[in-house]
This record gives sequence, structure tokens and C-alpha cells, in this order.
Amino acid sequence: MVRITRWILRALGAVSLLAHTSEAIELTLSNEASVKSAASTIAFGLVKYYTGNNTGDVPGNLPDPYFWWEAGAMFGTLIEYWALTGDDTYNKITSQAILHQAAPTRDFMTPNQTRTAGNDDQGFWALAAMLAAEANFPNPPADQPQWLALAQAVFNQWVSRWDAETCGGGLRWQIFTFNNGFNYKNSISNGCFFNVAARLARFTGNQTYADWATKIFAWEESAGLITPEYDIYDGATIKNTNDCSSIDKIQWSYNHGIFLHGAAVMYNITEDALWRKRVDGILQSTKDLFYDENGVLIEQFCEERGFCDTDQQSFKGYLTRWLAGTTQMVPDTFRTIRPLLETNAVAAAKACTGSPAANLFRGVSGTACGFRWGTGVFDGLVGVGEQMSALSAVMTTLVSRVAAPFTADTGGTSVGNPSAGAEGPGSSSPRAVLKPVTLGDRVAAGFLTSAIVLSVVGGSAFVMI
Ligand SMILES: *[C@@H]1O[C@H](CO)[C@@H](O)[C@H](O)[C@H]1NC(C)=O
Ligand SMILES: *[C@@H]1O[C@H](CO)[C@@H](O)[C@H](O)[C@H]1NC(C)=O
Ligand SMILES: *[C@@H]1O[C@H](CO)[C@@H](O)[C@H](O)[C@H]1NC(C)=O
Ligand SMILES: *[C@@H]1O[C@H](CO)[C@@H](O)[C@H](O)[C@H]1NC(C)=O
Repeated sequence: MVRITRWILRALGAVSLLAHTSEAIELTLSNEASVKSAASTIAFGLVKYYTGNNTGDVPGNLPDPYFWWEAGAMFGTLIEYWALTGDDTYNKITSQAILHQAAPTRDFMTPNQTRTAGNDDQGFWALAAMLAAEANFPNPPADQPQWLALAQAVFNQWVSRWDAETCGGGLRWQIFTFNNGFNYKNSISNGCFFNVAARLARFTGNQTYADWATKIFAWEESAGLITPEYDIYDGATIKNTNDCSSIDKIQWSYNHGIFLHGAAVMYNITEDALWRKRVDGILQSTKDLFYDENGVLIEQFCEERGFCDTDQQSFKGYLTRWLAGTTQMVPDTFRTIRPLLETNAVAAAKACTGSPAANLFRGVSGTACGFRWGTGVFDGLVGVGEQMSALSAVMTTLVSRVAAPFTADTGGTSVGNPSAGAEGPGSSSPRAVLKPVTLGDRVAAGFLTSAIVLSVVGGSAFVMI
């Protein structure tokens, strides 16, 4: 069945290539205008997947099959698109989406999502807010939540959920006990916490955030989730109340990206040799694991075997953006990272020649982006993940042309609140009240988790809900 599917996809790809060669995306890396124009075409196709701007729809939500977290990731990507290109076409829908999803409690514990949201889901919205602060993305009106305060709110809730009772620390994947995955401590949840803590430390200069970043990284190492060779494993299941030796060793590109970038931020503010060692080690491990002999980025666990799910089809874009961010924090990594960025911008653009059947893709005909960048053609796989990753691949080649992210001392204007986040459900505050969990909630959460886990051959509980 897999072979047939691949054959069909290849045939579709070939047909669309023949039919649309004239509409392929032009990209000349040495020409800033060409890169911006290519990025603009791909971004247009990306935003066409978004329905939250339609009358009657909910701002910030993507339609099925995309989970809530991926919308947060998309708006983070669009903020970076603006920061790299100066094109503000999508700023308005981005602000609207983030502010709507920030929820009445101003912490991304959005009532419609909290029953199924994990720490990592909340995390991708917090990362978008953090980037908005660093990029000086236009500040919301004063009566609305502010970017920096939103990131601080989520940070404070993560602190309150740190679980020293099992595995010597760490965040659990899920926030609520009734969700499958509450007994799992995973690298992406702790990676979100680590990355946001490091960036809050840099932005605000507050040592408390730096101390947490140090503690989280050390915990990942002591739990065996980051190895001495800088392999980064998916997570550990808590068994028999406190046996955490059962590790899921699948490696995903976004885990390398999120820890690499956070370590680069920590090196930037401390100039400590240990952080430098971690930056160099993760960067080497990233190259070895996720880039093929031609320097093309591959989601190594599932891409070649053809079973990356909807979530996993978006991971390469985040690694790419965090690599670009690493060059801003540790400028001499640019030598190593630049060729990776440039090779993949060209490869990804070549995969953006599709015109799939109606309703899947509504961008400019002949510019839908596929998933595999190593083939030189459109592979027939399309969606938010593919489009967002290709956009990231192309736009990040502009990184050396823009200023480094701001801090409060260098012109960052976002207003913070160090004690934000105390009121939302799932915080440690006694004021936080959660409605009693219904059977329907349990069924919904459990059903989603097992359906996704089953969809990945041989995989275990590593999928985000
Ligand atoms: C969002 O909706 C408004 C109102 O319908 C429209 O004017 C605007 O062009 C839309 N923005 C995008 C980026 O689609
Ligand atoms: C929650 O869902 C309701 C009903 O669809 C919608 O009106 C509301 O805007 C949603 N709230 C958020 C924060 O998404
Ligand atoms: C920290 O980042 C800034 C901004 O990119 C850069 O100028 C500086 O050299 C970096 N510091 C270190 C120690 O790499
Ligand atoms: C630093 O951050 C911690 C943790 O959020 C907070 O309790 C403290 O008030 C902050 N200090 C300052 C000076 O903002």
C-alpha cells in the first residue's frame, strides 16, 4: 500500500511539474528582492489555509486536521516573516489570532482547548508571544494582553507544574491528570519551557529565568533525554510511580532546534564554556542526524518511510527558524549554518511547484509546496506544515540582513508582568478553578491521543495533542 501511494504521489508530482513549470517559484539567493518575492508567494499560500479570518469563524483556529498548537506555530512563523521581510500584510490577523487565543486569563489556557492541551501546545503560542516581544511586533492596545506578559504567564505556570516527585524533575507532557500522556515527560514540553526561560532571561535580564533554563537543561541530561553525544530523545514514561528508565528514543528535528537555540541564547548572555559546548554539540548532532549527504534537511524518523503525520510534517520549519536564530545569538555559527539554510531554501523552493486538487491548496496555482526537499520536484504532499516549512526555509536566508532580536535594554518595548499567569486553570494558584471534568472530556482527550498514536507505525506516545 505504501508503495502504491508513493507511486501515485510521484506521478501526481510529475504531472503537476509538467503542467506548471512556468509558475514555479523563482529564487535567487543573492538578490534580496527575489527572496522576499518567493517568500511572499509561499506565505500567501500558507495563509490561504487559515479560516479564522472568515466571518463567523474563530480567530486563531486552523481547520481540521490541524491541532491548535500548529496554529500558534503558524502565527509565530508569520511574525518572523514580518521581521525578516518587512511585509506587514498578515500582522493584523496575527495580532487578532494571538489576542483571541490568549483567553480571558491571558495565558493561552484557552477555554475551548484546555481539556486537551499539553504543556507543549500552550508552549507554541508562548513562543509566538515571546518572538513578538523580541521583534517589537506592534504592541496591542493597553487594555489587551501584552506579548512579554503572555510569555511570562506561561513561564510561571510551567514553574508551578514542575514535578520533582518523579524522574527528579521535569514537566509532564499533559497538564491534566485525565489526559493520556500525563504519565509522560517529553523533550518538547521541557524544550518550550527551556527556550522561553532562556529568552526571558535575555530580554529582561532577570536571573530567575536563567536559573530555570540551567535547571531544565540539566534535568534533560540527568533523565537521559539529552545524551553526552547530544542525541535528544522524545521522552520518558513514568512507570511504577517513579521509574523513568523507559525512554522513547525517537529523535525529532524540532527537539534539536529548540534546545540548540535556547543554548545559544544562554551562551550569548553568559559566555559560559559549558553553554558553548552544548551549542557546538547539538549543532553537530543536528547536522549528522537531520541533513543528508547533499545537505538537505530530512525528518529522519518518518520522511523517507513516508509516514510523517500532520504534526510531524511541520517540524523541519521550526528547526530551520531556530538554526537561523542561533546565528544571531552565536554569530560564528553562521559559517556552519549558512550553507544549511541556503541549500534548503533552494531545495524547498524547487518543491513548491504543485497544483493539487481543489480545496487542498488555494494559493497561486503552481506554487504549492511539497514535503520532501531532496527530490527536486513537488511530491504531492501539501498542507500547513509543508507550506510553513518551505516559507521558513526561504525566508531565513535573510537572517544576516536583519538586526538581532531586541531586549528591554536595546529598544524592546513590550510591557511585562513578572507575576502574570496566576489566574488560569492549571496554575498553582488557589484561585484557579477548573470545571469538573465530564466523561465527554475524558473520551475526547483519550480518543484523540490513541487515534494519533495508532496512526504512526511502531511509534509510541510522542505525538502532541
Ligand atoms: C481578513 O478579513 C478582513 C475582513 O473580511 C479582510 O479585509 C482582510 O483582507 C482579511 N485578511 C487576510 C489576510 O485575509
Ligand atoms: C470558543 O468557542 C466558541 C464557540 O465556537 C467561540 O465563539 C469562541 O470564540 C471560542 N473562544 C476561543 C478563545 O477560541
Ligand atoms: C550576542 O548577540 C549579539 C546580537 O546578535 C551579538 O552582537 C553578540 O556578539 C553575541 N554575543 C556572543 C557572546 O556571541
Ligand atoms: C524576576 O522573575 C521572578 C520570577 O518570575 C519574579 O518573581 C521576580 O519578581 C522578577 N524580578 C524582577 C526584578 O522583576
